[in-house]
Amino acid sequence: MNRKIAVITGGSSGLGLASAQCLAPETSLLLCARNPAGLEKAKAELETFGAEVFICPLDASDPAAVRACAQYAQDLGEIVHVVHTAGVSPANTPAQDILRINTLGPVNVVEAFHPLLADGGVMILFGSTAGYSFETNPQMAPLIPAAKECFGHWNEADFDKQLMGFLTGVMGVSEPYLSGSAYCLSKFFVKYFVYANVWRFAERNCRILSVSPGSYLTRMHQALIDNQPETAAGVMKGIPLQRWGHAYEMGKLVAFLCSKGAGYINGVDILADGGCTFPSTVPQIS
Ligand SMILES: NC(=O)c1ccc[n+]([C@@H]2O[C@H](COP(=O)([O-])OP(=O)(O)OC[C@H]3O[C@@H](n4cnc5c(N)ncnc54)[C@H](OP(=O)(O)O)[C@@H]3O)[C@@H](O)[C@H]2O)c1
Repeated sequence: MNRKIAVITGGSSGLGLASAQCLAPETSLLLCARNPAGLEKAKAELETFGAEVFICPLDASDPAAVRACAQYAQDLGEIVHVVHTAGVSPANTPAQDILRINTLGPVNVVEAFHPLLADGGVMILFGSTAGYSFETNPQMAPLIPAAKECFGHWNEADFDKQLMGFLTGVMGVSEPYLSGSAYCLSKFFVKYFVYANVWRFAERNCRILSVSPGSYLTRMHQALIDNQPETAAGVMKGIPLQRWGHAYEMGKLVAFLCSKGAGYINGVDILADGGCTFPSTVPQIS
């Protein structure tokens, strides 16, 4: 069987769909998301441009569903890339669901696909600039060792509940801030989980890394603009390039990271944020 397959969770929308568009010239695609109608629409759109597309409706936080999808992908061909973009944001999702989807999703995808990735394969998880708040916010930095200790329980059945306990207990987060803090914690975990898997993937001659978007104009970011316009305006003020990112820019980055030319980029997070994350940590030269 010589079909090469790129699996893209969240492939029906935003950054996942843009990644699919950019990978389509090189591989067949298996798109995954919860809503079958969204997947059918994305498949039809990609096929217009000649892509070979399969779909697999699933909830990434369901380990059995992700395992079944991995088996389906293997039956289709050689799994060369897995791009796990599926995720939810605090603009429209309660904290417990954010923790379940944004932390158990990456765990399920890595566990299901690690044994099946082809020689030289690439796994890309999706973080966020929010995942850097532990490193860039001096009030949060002292919590890093405790957060990492908590992350060490990633393979326990109630891991997402333990993270909620960390938020309300160790971090002392109160109700109005729970979703935002859950998002930051979940995306900090994504980086931890990439670092924790580097040697395991390298033993199979595969790479694992993450990408952290800043603010890209997708359905997710549109929800922030619509539901919290003042927050969105504040975010824009902090972006040196003074514009939102285009999903196409992320698709091109993902396609490069999956390519042989990126073969030495491994075990790191690639921050693609228009320059907004680190300037606050040093005085700016005018
Ligand atoms: N856009 C940004 O500015 C930005 C910034 C930082 C980080 N990110 C991260 O980038 C990733 C992609 O974001 P986006 O902007 O492309 O979002 P989006 O346009 O809302 O797309 C999210 C995709 O994930 C799928 N999805 C959500 N929950 C799922 C679940 N439990 N199981 C399977 N699929 C699920 C959605 O489809 P269904 O609803 O049909 O499941 C959709 O296809 C996310 O991980 C997000 O946290 C985005």
